[in-house]
Amino acid sequence: MIKELLDHNKVWAAGKVADDPEYFNRLSELQAPDYLWIGCSDSRVPANVITGLEPGEVFVHRNVANLVHPGDINMLSVLEHAVDTLKVKHIIVCGHYGCGGISAAMDGHQHGVIDHWLQPVRDIAVQYAGVLASFEDEEARLNRLCELTIEAQVQGLARTPIIQASRQRGENIQIHGWVYGLTNGLLNDLHCCNGAQK
Ligand code: CO
Repeated sequence: MIKELLDHNKVWAAGKVADDPEYFNRLSELQAPDYLWIGCSDSRVPANVITGLEPGEVFVHRNVANLVHPGDINMLSVLEHAVDTLKVKHIIVCGHYGCGGISAAMDGHQHGVIDHWLQPVRDIAVQYAGVLASFEDEEARLNRLCELTIEAQVQGLARTPIIQASRQRGENIQIHGWVYGLTNGLLNDLHCCNGAQK
């Protein structure tokens, strides 16, 4: 029931104020997250919930299959604001095993405009065809493609003019690739971090 969402909101807001009367006053005046999250739109992968981050602690952009298209004005606007204004220290590209976007890219069917969106996934599959062919199990092969796609987005982000300019200014944003397990709730660090480790 849609009304339950609004009812829940009233209870949640009242609970926050009961715990900390200044909670919303403080949040409304300052947004200073250290993290930008680029994740899949999948409803089962909510950035704040799985990382334990509170409102105000992570700037979030989500799209199908957590892709970084170099011409995506939506993603670029988020990235520019996160890097240039919010001064985030870390960017996390987080995909998830069992991603419907990844499987839709590879199932050979036509789905509509999403097929254009998912083109980079098929390009990565071609690039790594040899590696992927070694997986007999389709689920395992798609999960590896999911990981390879995340790694490619991490490297693609590092090549964006926005990140390049921030590094020329001497800023050191670390870009991380993580994959989330729907079946166990755990985040797996792919250790493909781009940016000097401090
Ligand atoms: Co997904």
